[in-house]
Amino acid sequence: MIQASTRFWHPFSDMSQVIGHEVILDRGEGAWVWDRDGRRYYDATASLWYCNVGHGRVELAEAAAKQMRRLDSYSTFGSYANEPALELAERVCALAPIPEAVAFFTTGGSDAVDTAAKLVRRYWHAVGQPERQLILVREGAYHGMNTYGTSLAGIPANAAGYGQLVPGVIQVARDGASDLARVLAEHSGHVAAFFAEPVIGAGGVYPPVEGYWAAVQELCRAHDVLLVIDEVVTGFGRLGSWFASERYDIQADLILGAKGITSGYFPVGVVLCGQRIQEPFWRGSAGLLRHGYTYSGHATGAAVSLANLGLIEAEGLLERVRYLEAALSSELSTLSDHALVAEVRTAGLMGAVELTARALQDDPGIIDKVVRAAQERGVLTRGLVGRALHISPAFITTAAELADLAAALRESIDAVGAQRLATAADRR
Ligand SMILES: Cc1ncc(COP(=O)(O)O)c(C=O)c1O
Repeated sequence: MIQASTRFWHPFSDMSQVIGHEVILDRGEGAWVWDRDGRRYYDATASLWYCNVGHGRVELAEAAAKQMRRLDSYSTFGSYANEPALELAERVCALAPIPEAVAFFTTGGSDAVDTAAKLVRRYWHAVGQPERQLILVREGAYHGMNTYGTSLAGIPANAAGYGQLVPGVIQVARDGASDLARVLAEHSGHVAAFFAEPVIGAGGVYPPVEGYWAAVQELCRAHDVLLVIDEVVTGFGRLGSWFASERYDIQADLILGAKGITSGYFPVGVVLCGQRIQEPFWRGSAGLLRHGYTYSGHATGAAVSLANLGLIEAEGLLERVRYLEAALSSELSTLSDHALVAEVRTAGLMGAVELTARALQDDPGIIDKVVRAAQERGVLTRGLVGRALHISPAFITTAAELADLAAALRESIDAVGAQRLATAADRR
């Protein structure tokens, strides 16, 4: 029998390592959180890319409480709706870079991915081309962990060990469009959609190479393939515009959002749908869409989303991200000269500090060691794909905090580097 100090099964974890080492967080304010022993940490990742307006925002707690007192929620299946869900649909569709969009709400990013994958296949079925079933994805992509998201995983470890996943998924190279062109030509008339993040996030923060999005869109148009842009991380401001699709001039058929829509104060996701996809479903030819979630259009989730979007606007947080982008890039770049650092990549308030192949080869667990060293220095970060440190602070952070962050990361990498040298010396 396992004698554990916890009954909480942590997601994305090896519980054998977690038992006895839980970091129990108790409160948060701005870009900072405190554990239950009162230790303060800089939240370098805005939790999981989501706490964009910062922790401890009373406005969002009050918006939730106000809505819960009036109407917690009610199913939106069939013809039911509620005021906050209707208002949020209007609001996000007005912000979306998709003309005349409509919004299908979910309970998070993985649900949004599932919804989009089912919608594109169901769309082609409805318009008389059921042979269009294939979904193309990029190497390194992360589209959540429901069964569709797992099947679309461009990070091989995330799909390993689960047996048969959803068939009909083809992976193409991360950078450049020539591999995509080849696959589209080989499977002409059988591809439903191309799913992609504007900037690869969990796969290591890879901004698009020059001309990537223009080339992808030309190919999708030429092969009549739907373009699904997963903005679960980038949506609602992380790149300094409401959607990264604006920054890269992407005209998507579907845009997926989650995390930043509520800054994580309530689990909400959204699929923003352009006119083409709406057509058969809203005119009636496709019949009933047998898809939806108990909490789709949750009244309290929608009220919190509206309050969060209101804060981003009222506090000029998109402008602030644009201002902080340069600071994040220049502060993290100072780490590029470190002997253990291979590359620093940033876009908006997304960043990755990748360690050298040599360091990773010598010690495959080095990223976790740096993460622990940073934690000891009061910074919470995590490893991305076992190679890089994840950085995505709240939009309300300051340039001074970013400078302190870079200094703490340098110290943490130094400390692990020193341990590494000491161990190598012991072995000699
Ligand atoms: C690009 C992207 N899509 C989808 C998801 C899944 O979102 P969730 O964890 O809310 O289900 C994530 C989560 O990090 C993500 O980064």
